[in-house]
Amino acid sequence: MKKLEEYVRSIPDFPEPGIIFRDVTSILQDADGLKLAIDSLQGLLEGLDFDVVVGTESRGFIFGVPVAYNLHKPFVPVRKKGKLPCETVEASYELEYGSAVIEMHRDSIKPGDRVVLVDDLIATGGTIEACARMVEGLGGEVVRMIFVMELAGLNGRDRLKKYDVASVIRYE
Ligand code: PRP
Ligand code: ADE
Repeated sequence: MKKLEEYVRSIPDFPEPGIIFRDVTSILQDADGLKLAIDSLQGLLEGLDFDVVVGTESRGFIFGVPVAYNLHKPFVPVRKKGKLPCETVEASYELEYGSAVIEMHRDSIKPGDRVVLVDDLIATGGTIEACARMVEGLGGEVVRMIFVMELAGLNGRDRLKKYDVASVIRYE
């Protein structure tokens, strides 16, 4: 059986010179790759007691929803600013390339909720840290952060020391 890392296509200098882009579409377009990715991600939650899955636009949706569905948990989307129709909270952050503002609905997390954050990839950790800030601002507790891929060289874990962080594939 192929390992998950064998499904990942790496593209040098995208979207900017110096970035090695780890492409999830090459996992998704293979039925075995897709199944292995979801099963492996879900495996990172084994034995964990939690209430809700939060995933970030857009690649966090791809992986977060099937995990939430399989485990019969609700899914809460974090979206780029200006997309959500009801009352929101927001957070801004810096990316490996660029900066952004994200939002989530104020009523999506209840005080005391045990929250799992899901994304395809952790690079600098800025996106997921911004998600955690919003969840905590609403009274939720971030009990784990899970990723398909981790770019360890960008030291995302350093800024997330207080969190339980797990990934399927680690690139040094
Ligand atoms: C990518 C990726 C993560 C984030 C990781 O999303 O899907 O969400 O960057 O980077 P960080 O750890 O440095 O914050 P992007 O903002 O490119 O949006 P997309 O999923 O819509 O492509
Ligand atoms: N998001 C941020 N950095 C990335 C990278 N190197 N590859 C894919 N997605 C990313």
